[in-house]
Amino acid sequence: MSMNPAKKRVRIVSTGSYLPEKVLTNFDLEKMVDTTDEWITTRTGIKRRHIAKESEATSDLVLQAALRALKKAKLQASDLDVLIIGTVTPDTSYPSTACWVQRGLGIEGIPCFDLSAACSGFLYGLVLAESLINAGTARRVLVAGSECLSKFLNWEDRNTCVLFGDGAGAVIVEASHDDSGILSFSWGANGNYTDILVQPAGGSRMPPSEKTVMKKLHSVYMEGNKVFRWAVKYMSESALDAVQKAGLKADQISLFIPHQANIRIIESASKYAGIPEEKTYVVIDRTANISSATIPIALDMAIEEGRVQRGDNVLLTAFGGGLTWASIVLRW
Ligand code: ACO
Repeated sequence: MSMNPAKKRVRIVSTGSYLPEKVLTNFDLEKMVDTTDEWITTRTGIKRRHIAKESEATSDLVLQAALRALKKAKLQASDLDVLIIGTVTPDTSYPSTACWVQRGLGIEGIPCFDLSAACSGFLYGLVLAESLINAGTARRVLVAGSECLSKFLNWEDRNTCVLFGDGAGAVIVEASHDDSGILSFSWGANGNYTDILVQPAGGSRMPPSEKTVMKKLHSVYMEGNKVFRWAVKYMSESALDAVQKAGLKADQISLFIPHQANIRIIESASKYAGIPEEKTYVVIDRTANISSATIPIALDMAIEEGRVQRGDNVLLTAFGGGLTWASIVLRW
């Protein structure tokens, strides 16, 4: 294992998550589009998802998750040095969702920004937070993933509307005083496939117009089968790469928390990465796919359930639009 004695590890000191109150089950969806609980369960593993209120924006969800993480760490919002939010459903194109969160926390002054890497946004943010802390640029960083995907779905398209949900997860990151912390990471992107998982309209390539709204081009467009294949490949490759860079073998991973887009993707990626089913943490049945928020929410749930203990090696793996991917190995 490569160890620079001068360099401290960077660790997650606390986690928090928030799922909106309203639950939409597969049976509710049966009344909305031509689908069945049976199709959704067997093809995706999803049973239900949480849906934000009309009045709730992405930053409102982060705020709740951030307050929970701060409380667990016995910290004040004013103890934070930087806010980084991964999201594909920002409150506004600008200002960033992070600035809305900062306003909610009442801590003006510190740098705040969003990170656009789709479902990999949270792990990209964690890589960045580690660098900021190691460089001495920041002491304590809040990294979150948060989405209100329900607000951007075409609720008449059964191919996509059954797959997603809303929620937020946040972690507080600082230098470690022991051997716990980030051991390794592996990240990347392949811009050759920007068109297979995309929200086509609303940006400068296709600005909003009556036509884009009529044609539902502000919703997710996805070539499901292609995305599926790339997800398995990039998730398993980056997971293996991160494990190897940590100087570990797959059987030394105590818990694998993969991005949750489809139970069959999770099962295939785990198999290729050599992680057994009982060490793979699954929440997709309860949450559906919440893009960048999935991993921090799942991590928080796993901790709350006692699935993560001091000294455990935890592997986090994400994949998303871009295409983007990232894996991180943490010693808890
Ligand atoms: N209910 C009933 N039938 C449906 C539904 C539904 N909700 N959705 C699709 N079908 C039908 C299709 O119309 C198709 O019918 P046809 O054969 O008559 O044309 C049939 O089911 C099979 O469709 P497939 O696309 O072959 O189904 P598949 O088993 O591949 O599952 C899915 C589709 C779930 C989308 C899968 O491909 C998948 O999970 N892909 C990856 C998704 C993913 O990772 N997305 C990441 C997005 S994250 C982000 O960045 C926002």
